[in-house]
Amino acid sequence: MARKKDQPVIDKDKIPRHVAIIMDGNGRWAKKRFIPRTMGHRAGMASLKKVVKACDELGIAILTVFAFSTENWKRPSDEVNYLMQLLAEFMRKELDELHQNNVRIQVLGDYRAMPADCRIEIKRALEMTRANTGLIFNIALNYGARQEIMDAAKQLAAQIAAGEIKAEEVNEEIFSRLLYTKGMPDPDLLIRSSGEKRISNFMLWQIAYTELVVTDTLWPDFSEIDLIRAVIEYQQRDRKFGGLSK
Ligand code: IPE
Ligand code: IPE
Ligand code: MG
Repeated sequence: MARKKDQPVIDKDKIPRHVAIIMDGNGRWAKKRFIPRTMGHRAGMASLKKVVKACDELGIAILTVFAFSTENWKRPSDEVNYLMQLLAEFMRKELDELHQNNVRIQVLGDYRAMPADCRIEIKRALEMTRANTGLIFNIALNYGARQEIMDAAKQLAAQIAAGEIKAEEVNEEIFSRLLYTKGMPDPDLLIRSSGEKRISNFMLWQIAYTELVVTDTLWPDFSEIDLIRAVIEYQQRDRKFGGLSK
């Protein structure tokens, strides 16, 4: 496809290190087609597969995707069960290829709440890819940012009570190390598909200075092109972190 003269191109020297995605819009995609919501979720999985590959190829170091929130349990049990099975299926089918591509899979969230067969697939994926050194692929599963922050606060309170650390010594770095994302840089770019301009309890601590890009594209329609567009938009932002422009 010919590129228009003034159309911006991706700057390979300014690739975001960490990209986070709220994969939203599966239900609306299905509704538009008069098919069950579950079919939207299945189509969404196909998008995810493409996007992981595209992130790897772009040289993004960390990809974090929101797959299931602590609030998504409110949905009808049929839909919840379908989502769980779909996740297990994704792990089962994609694991070999992801492993071959040196991708390291991690789960953010308490996956002990998932059904047993899901947990088995997740454990297998985590163990198999543990030593991989390529793209870090974080799947936020049964993830809620408030839950994450609260868990960290509880751990910290216990450490203080045990005399392991003094309350006045606590700083942002120490606190960050108790979050699910310990050791990882904060997201540079957060993409939300399907137009909703909200965070929905995702990475509240980590996105303090993250650039937000909301696209109207529904997640099952989201492709490499949308990813590249979002990265280009990110590259045009003036990140100041409270300071002044460079
Ligand atoms: C995102 O799509 C997938 C999950 C939340 C698991 P939705 O299912 O939220 O799709 P919409 O928002 O109803 O279109
Ligand atoms: C956020 O989407 C959660 C995931 C993408 C997994 P939701 O569809 O659950 O968010 P709300 O309900 O529109 O805020
Ligand atoms: Mg939604």
